[in-house]
Amino acid sequence: MALRYDYYLFDFDGTVAETGEGIRRSVAYSLEKLGRPVPDKSVLDRFIGPPLHDSYMEYCGMTEAEAEHAIEVYRERYVDIGLYESELYPGIAMLLRALHRAGAHVAIASAKPQFMLERLAAHYGIDKYLDAIAGTGLGRHSADKQDLILRALPEGADLSRACMVGDRRYDIEAAKALGMTAVGADYGYSLPGELAGAGADAVFGDVRTMSAYLLGGEAPRGLFLSLEGSDGCGKSTQIALLKEYLLKRGFEVVLTREPGGCPISERIREVILSLDSKGMSDECEALLYAASRVEHVREVIEPALKCGKIVICDRFLDSSIAYQAYGRELGEGFVRQINEPATKRAFPELTLLLELNREESRRRMANGAPLDRLEIEQEDFFSRVRQGYDALAAANPGRIVRIDASRTIEQVFEAVRGAVERLL
Ligand code: TYD
Repeated sequence: MALRYDYYLFDFDGTVAETGEGIRRSVAYSLEKLGRPVPDKSVLDRFIGPPLHDSYMEYCGMTEAEAEHAIEVYRERYVDIGLYESELYPGIAMLLRALHRAGAHVAIASAKPQFMLERLAAHYGIDKYLDAIAGTGLGRHSADKQDLILRALPEGADLSRACMVGDRRYDIEAAKALGMTAVGADYGYSLPGELAGAGADAVFGDVRTMSAYLLGGEAPRGLFLSLEGSDGCGKSTQIALLKEYLLKRGFEVVLTREPGGCPISERIREVILSLDSKGMSDECEALLYAASRVEHVREVIEPALKCGKIVICDRFLDSSIAYQAYGRELGEGFVRQINEPATKRAFPELTLLLELNREESRRRMANGAPLDRLEIEQEDFFSRVRQGYDALAAANPGRIVRIDASRTIEQVFEAVRGAVERLL
């Protein structure tokens, strides 16, 4: 895919992150503390994006000196609290990752103080996608946006290959004055017509369509992660922690499981796991897992990946290889073949294999829910399953990460997080 530009600059507030809550609350805090009336939300929204100094003067009738003092009071609350009352817009983290991976220069150019931008970028983990962050010094009243833009670019950058994305007219006007492309992010804090009026070359109402435009093709595809492991290895706990972690990082996450994950596949799950299905042939079992999988991929996994989401799946094809190909001794060729309709549509980029020895696994299961049809299998079955996982891990060292699940929840999660972070 050929990128449309070489340099991609983003404003922060209202473009990368929805920072309104923290800004509004901190402006209100400063005004209350100074004994001034607090305007309503629509006015407080005007403070988001432009230099604060100008806004205090324009919307609260302050003098230069009063505005300066108000900013000091504002920061009392903003730096430690307000800063984190924010969220990345859905899809932004994937867009920055995609631009970075495609080799573009990606940077932030914002009138926010430099140290705050750096803190926020690290907080959301987007710092690893950024080549530069250009913010203001604390002492400066109003930063010149053109100046910020130039600081966010490498020296000698060809401005005709550069694009500024922003949600306010300041961003658009500065980019146009420098001869760059200006893209309006209309999902932020712009007023109706503001961005087109300021001369934006294109205006987008959502991150996904904007991403497709900026990337010069399709919006970024999501990521597919699967977790594997024996019974009692703590997969569900780790999956819940991982979801939480990725949401905080601003990614959109879909949690799902196999067998199951959608209505038809959940019904197949009941048939497979029920003790009433005792005596089911091994081939039938393998085909049912494959049937449940293809439906699940079509209905849940593929659509989520198309929307740029991160799919976390509790078990996927590796389970069929370990349990049916090895455990039931049906052979890998057969199992891979019947799963092809599913796996050709989607396959995990990363698989976390939580490993627990059989004794510990049995001990943990003894305290749990009633056993299902697979869990009542004989020991030699489970030892073959284990061999299956060993073989898979050995053959796919790039995709499958083995994690010792006998440790504490925190220690295991540290390993899970590390592996996922490397992929991100
Ligand atoms: P589940 O209760 O979800 O087990 P766990 O909590 O251990 O994931 O039941 C899924 C069972 O199905 C589990 O014993 C593994 C087995 N299985 C297969 O044999 N083949 C497969 O392809 C999948 C997805 C699961």
